[in-house]
Formats: sequence, structure tokens, C-alpha cells
Amino acid sequence: MLRQSIEQRLQQAVARRLPDADLTSVLVRPCPDPKFGDYQSNALMGLAKQRRLNPRQLATEIAADLQLDDLCEPTEIAGPGFLNFRLKPAALAAMLSVAARGEHLFFRPATEPYTVVVDFSSPNVAKPMHVGHIRSTILGDCLARTLRLLGHRVITDNHIGDWGTQFGMLLVGWKTLLDEAALDRDPIAELERIYRAVNARCSEDKPEFDPATLEQARAELVKLQGGDEENTGIWRRMIALSQQQFDTIYGRLGVRFDHTFGESFYNDRLAEAVTELESRGIVRESEGALLAFFDDVPPLKNQPAIVRKRDGAANYTTTDLATLQYRLATWNPDEIIYVTDGRQQLHFQQVFEIFRRWHPDAPVRLSHVWFGSILGENNQPLKTRSGENIKLADLLDEAEERALRVVAEKNPELPESEQREIARMVGLGAVKYADLLPNRQSDYVFSWDKMLALNGNTAPYLLYAATRIRSIFRKLAESGETFDLAAAGADLTLAEPAELALAKQLQNFDFVLHAVAEEHRPNYLCNYLYELAGQFTGFYEACPVLRAEGTVRATRLVLCELTFRVLAQGLEVLGLEVPERM
Ligand code: ARG
Repeated sequence: MLRQSIEQRLQQAVARRLPDADLTSVLVRPCPDPKFGDYQSNALMGLAKQRRLNPRQLATEIAADLQLDDLCEPTEIAGPGFLNFRLKPAALAAMLSVAARGEHLFFRPATEPYTVVVDFSSPNVAKPMHVGHIRSTILGDCLARTLRLLGHRVITDNHIGDWGTQFGMLLVGWKTLLDEAALDRDPIAELERIYRAVNARCSEDKPEFDPATLEQARAELVKLQGGDEENTGIWRRMIALSQQQFDTIYGRLGVRFDHTFGESFYNDRLAEAVTELESRGIVRESEGALLAFFDDVPPLKNQPAIVRKRDGAANYTTTDLATLQYRLATWNPDEIIYVTDGRQQLHFQQVFEIFRRWHPDAPVRLSHVWFGSILGENNQPLKTRSGENIKLADLLDEAEERALRVVAEKNPELPESEQREIARMVGLGAVKYADLLPNRQSDYVFSWDKMLALNGNTAPYLLYAATRIRSIFRKLAESGETFDLAAAGADLTLAEPAELALAKQLQNFDFVLHAVAEEHRPNYLCNYLYELAGQFTGFYEACPVLRAEGTVRATRLVLCELTFRVLAQGLEVLGLEVPERM
């Protein structure tokens, strides 16, 4: 890629001038404002400062030594020592030819592929998957897809909540309240009903509180934990019923997991983990419980983590520590990514800190990729009118229905079955895109009208842009012409500003993909694709394609096809399907 070539040559020039310089900080990035150039580097200012050199002087020397004539106009030095680079049209055209030959699609796989475990979605058994789980599912899937595209070894693991005190109550409910017919009709709703009923009787602050039920729930839990056959059988059925519901949703969303090792998978590893932590002095007893204290870690001061409760039971922290240990031993990952909502930040800070004390030399990067809430139009967490959590399945149904209205209006001539298929892609795409577009750490307001709009930074807009390019080639084919991308790409000429802008945007696909993987921020890719679609529109308005001739025509067709491919590849990484027409 051109950016990498410039970066490499800049690093070589820096190494010639400052042989001891740390070259990893010598980076070249896309320029935020094209006024200043296409790429820029601010690395020399830092290097000069460390060495008490005059930054402009250093920049001048290095620029004079840089060999970039084949790629760029003469390097410009700006402000206190920025380097600005402007690509030559011929270099861009050459790059397009290589892409047209199919040698790359404006990105290169990672030079050092790593192994990464992505822990995402992770809903809880016997509860419906609600909108709170959608962000984890969509973000995690997108990160896994991006990492895979870049050639990393990705292991996805759905850490479902299939263990814990709720099963004591669920078992009481199952044995005393279960309505088998209701369970047949809608298993999760029935499980939820019995859970709620028993939970109310077990909660001291509820009018239904009944100490005997609480005692019963405790006893059922102890039996389950002890491996009682009947309770284990019921527990397994509850997991299977929940898994069916999860799988239906994952199927609709096109999400799959390599593993579903739920919390219970780690049960017989918990005691050993706790023993090890104890023997290494990482946890100590306090009022009968075992805790890790973090007095030397300012943000965690006064926030000790319990790893064994007073009654001897393990908890969420213990399970996550045993899980980490298992993943390390099994896959030896370079990174583990946990995608959960922001309320679990303290939990993961504690788990990571304990783990660092336990395995001080493990070179694994631990990333808690957290996200904010989805809000309703009233700026409160999204709920149904009656105040219930919105079920994911209902949300997806509604997305498809609403998209159908948009699609039917736009394409009244298409048969209904085709309209429905397009609406499925548009509706699910709109929900996913609305979730991926905002900075993940901010809350966002869920708005059907906004996410389904055909204009603006939305899924329908991007999908429409892609199908519009398809239709150019349909027209071409209808007129009896065949288009051979590699042949057309052999001789290209870029002259119009809109052509150049589009070619440059294509160039930046690589940078964006790697940034998404590195910083776990799919919104970068959303914004990149939105800009690409905008640049394509500008190009298509300014530059006639089918009516042009010769090399100009070939160049424009190549730009169309490559833009389509980048759009389609980008959308696929976001988890969106592109319809043939729209
Ligand atoms: N089941 C948890 C929840 O719904 C999320 C689990 C996330 N993964 C983990 N390793 N703790 O909140």
C-alpha cells in the first residue's frame, strides 16, 4: 500500500539520520484535511524534542534525504515540523492496476498474525436475549470478522451464563410451578415466568417473600452443585431450550461461534484456581471470605475483589479467572477481547489485575471492549411501552417489517418474495449498522426512522450505493458488452479531482481495517465507508462513465468496480449482506 511504502521510506531516512531512534513511533497517517496533503507524519517533532534538536531543521534534513519521487510530489514541511505528502496521480493509477489484477483489495493482511480469543454475546440461560445483548453480539462479531480478514487466528467463545444462584430458584419453579404446555409453546417465556415468581418469594423486600421458598431454593442449588441426577437433568434441559433460542437469533444475524464454553464448563477448575491464588499470597482471608486487595492500584483502591464467598461459593470473578487460565493453556492467545457493557468495567479491571499478579510474565493483551446503553427516544434505557425489556427476536421482526415498507415503496415492481428478501437484508443491516456507527462507549438513541433513512450515514444508504454500482454493470451487460477488470486496469489515467479523491479513499481501506482491529472500534469502518460512498456519488455526478471513451472510460469503470468491491467487503466485515438490487 502507498501509505506503508511512504512510512517505510521515512523510517529508513530517520534511521540514517538518527540510528538510535525508535522507529515504531515513526508513523504516516492519512491527513484529516486534504488541503494539507494526503498523508502526514508528526514523528519528527517528538524525535527532535528528545534530542534537543530544532524540529524544522531535522524535518528539512530528512525530507531532503527521503526518496519518494516515484510516489509523491516533493515533501512539504509544515508548522513546527510536520511532513505532508501528496500522492502523484501516476502512483495512484499504478496502485489501481495492481488491485484490478486482483493482487489486493487495498489492504494487506497483518505481517505478524496473532491469536485472539473474542468473548462476546454471552447471554444468560433461562432469560430471553434482550436488546442489551445485541451490542455485544454485533460488536463482537464485527471485531472477529475484521481480525479474520486481516489474517489473525480468531477463536470466538460464547461465555454463556449457565451457572449460578438463579438455578436454585429455577429448579424450585420447575418442580412446583411449571406449565408444560406453556413450556412447549414458548420455553423461554415460561422459564422467565417461573423464575420471576420464585425470585419474588426469595426477595426479602418483596410482599411475596417467603423464607421457606428461599430455603428450598438454597437446597435445590446445593443438590445441583453436588451433581444430583434429577436436578442436573432439569438444568441441562433449561440450557438446551435456551441454546435453541440463542441459535435462532444467531442464525438470523449470521453470527457463529467456535465454542460455547459457558460458565459451568469451569466448575471443576475453580477450587484449584483459588488454591493457587491463596498459595501465592494474591488473595487473603477477611471475615471468612477470600479477597484480593489492590491498595497499590489507585483506581482500585478500596475495591477489593471477592474470589471465595463466606459460604465457600465461587463467583463471577472466580469463574473469569479460571476461564482466563484455561484459555491461556489451551490456545496461548496473544490477546483476549471481552465485549460487554460498561457496567462491567470494575469487574474486568479486577480480574485483569489479579491475573497479572498470578502470571506476571504472560504476554497476553487483555482488552475489555465495553459499550454504552441503547436508549429509547425518551433518553431512558430502551424498553417496551409497558416498561419491559425488548426481546431481540421482536426487535429483528420489526426491523424487517419496517424495512419492507421502505423497499416496497421504492421497488413496487418487484415480486413480494424478493421484496421480503431485500427487506431482511436492509432491516437487519440497519439494526447492526446503527449499533456499530456510534462511538461504542457512548449511549445512543434507538430510532427506527433514523436507521432506516435512505439518506445520511445509514445502512440503507450504503447498501443502496453498492447496488447502484451493480446497476451500472447490469446496464453494461445488457448492452452486450463484457467487462474484464484486469484488462481494463492495465492502462489507466487519473485526472479529474473526483477520480483522484475516490482513488485516494480506496487507498485508505488498509489503514482503517487495521485501526478497527487495533483499537476495537468498528465506527472507524462505518465512517470510512460512508465517506467512500459519498466520494463515489461525487465522482459519478462529475464524471460520466458509460458515455466516456477509451482509457478514461476504462479507468472510470475500474473505479466503479473497485469501489463496489471495497464497499461490499467493508459491509461484509460489519456483518451486512448486500442485495443485488434495492
Ligand atoms: N453473561 C454475562 C452477562 O450477561 C456476560 C459474560 C461476559 N464474559 C465474561 N467472560 N465475563 O452479563
